[in-house]
Amino acid sequence: MVELTLPKNSRITKGKTWEKPAGAAKLREFGIYRWSPDDAENPRLDTFFVDTEDCGPMVLDALLWIKNNVDSTLTLRRSCREGICGSCAMNIDGANTLACTKGMDEIKGTIRIYPLPHMPVIKDLVPDLSVPFAQLRSIEPWLKTETPEPEKEWRQARQDREKLDGLYECILCFCCQTSCPSYWWNGEKYLGPAILLQAYRWLIDSRDEATGDRLDALEDPFKLYRCHTIMNCTQACPKGLNPAKAIAEVKKMMVERRV
Ligand code: SF4
Ligand code: SF4
Ligand code: FES
Repeated sequence: MVELTLPKNSRITKGKTWEKPAGAAKLREFGIYRWSPDDAENPRLDTFFVDTEDCGPMVLDALLWIKNNVDSTLTLRRSCREGICGSCAMNIDGANTLACTKGMDEIKGTIRIYPLPHMPVIKDLVPDLSVPFAQLRSIEPWLKTETPEPEKEWRQARQDREKLDGLYECILCFCCQTSCPSYWWNGEKYLGPAILLQAYRWLIDSRDEATGDRLDALEDPFKLYRCHTIMNCTQACPKGLNPAKAIAEVKKMMVERRV
């Protein structure tokens, strides 16, 4: 997994150390990023102690235990707690991943948790994902056809359907997007690995009839070509997908249509 560290001049201050739970036999220490738009304070790293015999084994279990037992204002996103919805993505122990599938026993020492890096923060562990979702809308991620609709369904050969394996499983958690240095520096213009993986998913769908238009829309010095094959994205994906390969395939399609 890609390791991310804070810059030396980071203004995150040491925050509050919350009381240890009384009578707990097995404690884990957590350092959790806190920032609220409601006060004028710098972000801080609060220290919490979790009774691991009173909660489940995943990092998300511990975060919810803190929220329920220590500080109800701790703010985070989550929904499925099964690695399906993508909403609990955050930076845990230096790597972007899903809190619900990351076991506490996979981490040694204090478990440090920050929001996904290089995104504006709404509060605590909740990043503002408006830009990547607008970028997703921009690639028109739906089936586009011109031939009249079939009576029942758009049919697809088994081998064509298999081309979508490794793509359709993307849960849009943006772990890859926010671990990509090119996206950090050009996030408004470069579409980033999650969106380009989605773009490729529609480009190679045998039922889609807008391939030329889709490629035209990506033919831009920033949207696609800011990928420099650094591969952080593929290392970061908690679903084991390979956005860097998908981007390489889109670049190949661009070349092939010119010859
Ligand atoms: S391979 Fe491309 S998309 Fe992936 S991290 Fe590197 S620059 Fe970003
Ligand atoms: S490719 Fe992987 S890391 Fe990127 S958004 Fe999809 S599931 Fe998340
Ligand atoms: S809560 Fe849905 S992926 Fe973690």
